[in-house]
Amino acid sequence: MIQTRELTKHYGSLAALNRLTIDIGAGEVFGFIGPNGAGKTTTMKILSCLIKPDRGTASVAGFDIAKDADQVRRNIGYMPDFLGVYDDLTVDEYLQFFAAAFGITRKNRTAIIGQVLELTDLIFKRHELVDSLSRGMQQRLGVARVLVHDPKVLFLDEPASGLDPRARIEMRSLLQELGKMGKTLLVSSHILSELAEMCTSIGIIERGTLLYSGSIQDAYERTRQRSESGERIGVTLETSGTSASLIAARLASDERIAKAVGDDTARTVVIDIKHIAAGEGGMSHHFIIESIIAAGGRIASFQPEQVRLEDAFLKLTTGAVQ
Ligand SMILES: Nc1ncnc2c1ncn2[C@@H]1O[C@H](COP(=O)(O)OP(=O)(O)OP(=O)(O)O)[C@@H](O)[C@H]1O
Ligand SMILES: [Mg+2]
Repeated sequence: MIQTRELTKHYGSLAALNRLTIDIGAGEVFGFIGPNGAGKTTTMKILSCLIKPDRGTASVAGFDIAKDADQVRRNIGYMPDFLGVYDDLTVDEYLQFFAAAFGITRKNRTAIIGQVLELTDLIFKRHELVDSLSRGMQQRLGVARVLVHDPKVLFLDEPASGLDPRARIEMRSLLQELGKMGKTLLVSSHILSELAEMCTSIGIIERGTLLYSGSIQDAYERTRQRSESGERIGVTLETSGTSASLIAARLASDERIAKAVGDDTARTVVIDIKHIAAGEGGMSHHFIIESIIAAGGRIASFQPEQVRLEDAFLKLTTGAVQ
């Protein structure tokens, strides 16, 4: 549904996008992830026919962005990273405006606007001013706006940015809903975990270059293979008993442990388990507890850490994958 081949865009000497090649199938929710300045917005603008690439080709919904720009525009909805200012417009007027711009007849507009407001859970705000909506509601209105002409493909630039956790969950379920409706979504974010649960696949981009494209499972798998340690555990010790550094030294000599660092002042020990041991599941924690107790330490708290998505992301982007 979306194909790019060697898309390249320079601003002066800066390569904002460097030979980007991706394939996104129909019905996919593709998470486009990268830090600030990675080239996410540039990509979306090129695919929306708002700017032209220097080199490379792309097609969206079967239409070439260079040759069939009008058809591309008809089949896509592009939600920019900020909504803009619409003084004194109500939600209804705002959507009427965009529906009219897409040539939807007045008769059909009311019904369509009702539908998109229903879907984005904003029907109760229909006659409120756009400026009076919360950030989360404005972002959902941004999605409603790109749905009025029922496009096949949606480009959503950072739809979850600046939202509180609850609003983020609501946005996520809205995007999942759109995926179920069969729309193809390209959604950008600089936070991987924001998108992880709702995407069917992801692309990681940094400084204009695609570092990874594929499923989230594969991304995890790769980062796991690359990391020396499988899991990290933080232990806090009670004040009586052996010192943290002594316990750390003892743990470090165990072949199942990659690293153990003790802090005598804070009375904490941070332990990195090798991922071979981590693969044994719950068993991996046991030998640590036994080892600490055998060394005379008394455990006040024991906190296993999950490998966080952000860490996985960092490893992928700094590790020159592929
Ligand atoms: N109109 C422009 N003129 C000059 N440089 C630009 C222009 N637009 C973007 N750039 C540069 O191109 C690079 C990519 O920018 P882009 O906006 O695509 O990044 P992004 O991934 O969307 O970042 P962010 O997460 O901050 O939104 C950046 O280094 C940016 O400074
Ligand atoms: Mg951007």
